[in-house]
Amino acid sequence: MRLGVNIDHVATLRQARQETIPDPVSAARAVIAGGADGVVCHLREDRRHIQDADVRRLRALPGRLDLEMAATDEMARIAIRLKPDLVTIVPEKRRELTTEGGLDLKSKVKSKNSKLRNVIRKLQDKGILVSLFIDPDHDQVAEAAVLQADFIELHTGRYCRKRAPRELEKLGVAAQQARLIGLRINAGHGLDYQNVGPVARIPGLEELNIGFAIIARGLLVGLEEATREMKEAIK
Ligand code: PXP
Repeated sequence: MRLGVNIDHVATLRQARQETIPDPVSAARAVIAGGADGVVCHLREDRRHIQDADVRRLRALPGRLDLEMAATDEMARIAIRLKPDLVTIVPEKRRELTTEGGLDLKSKVKSKNSKLRNVIRKLQDKGILVSLFIDPDHDQVAEAAVLQADFIELHTGRYCRKRAPRELEKLGVAAQQARLIGLRINAGHGLDYQNVGPVARIPGLEELNIGFAIIARGLLVGLEEATREMKEAIK
């Protein structure tokens, strides 16, 4: 199981004072030293945390880079230029505090669907693997396969909030369905040191993407140690 650490929260702190510190790239080096397999960052359309220059510098690091982005032409252009190891397409709303739900791949809005399809193709044509961030829902998983995504990222937020066995079961069922139809699987959102274990044991998952819990713990023990502790919790 790989661990991708989302370092957006470091950039949020920097932007709060419009400063040059803390530097998300230094944070990325620390989490990689602590055993992370790579970093995840979300270049939002409003650039509220990660900036374009951050992504360029992150790309030059040795670990894997998973670029989260909305399905827009601007973002596709940036991704094609930078060639991250993976692009995860997420829904984006200006007023949300963090990504709230998964993509609605069954959207009734036709223009939204064709936009998504075009962006996926453009990226894949340039050799970039594409993941779709979705809720653990049968129809969404099926549609991700129709769209010929390489990966899905299962949204674990509901499981993390509710802590109900039923929510864990939904993640397991969605992962099994995805495996059977040939989709590769990541998972993330809201995972922490306490709730990560059962998710890590779901068969077929390749990578967990975790941000807030590691960065928050890192404030107390350092990012390298916080990442090491998360790797242990995943084991
Ligand atoms: N995966 C996706 C698609 C996300 O948008 C986020 C949050 O930026 C995460 C994982 C990480 O979530 P958290 O910060 O709650 O660990």
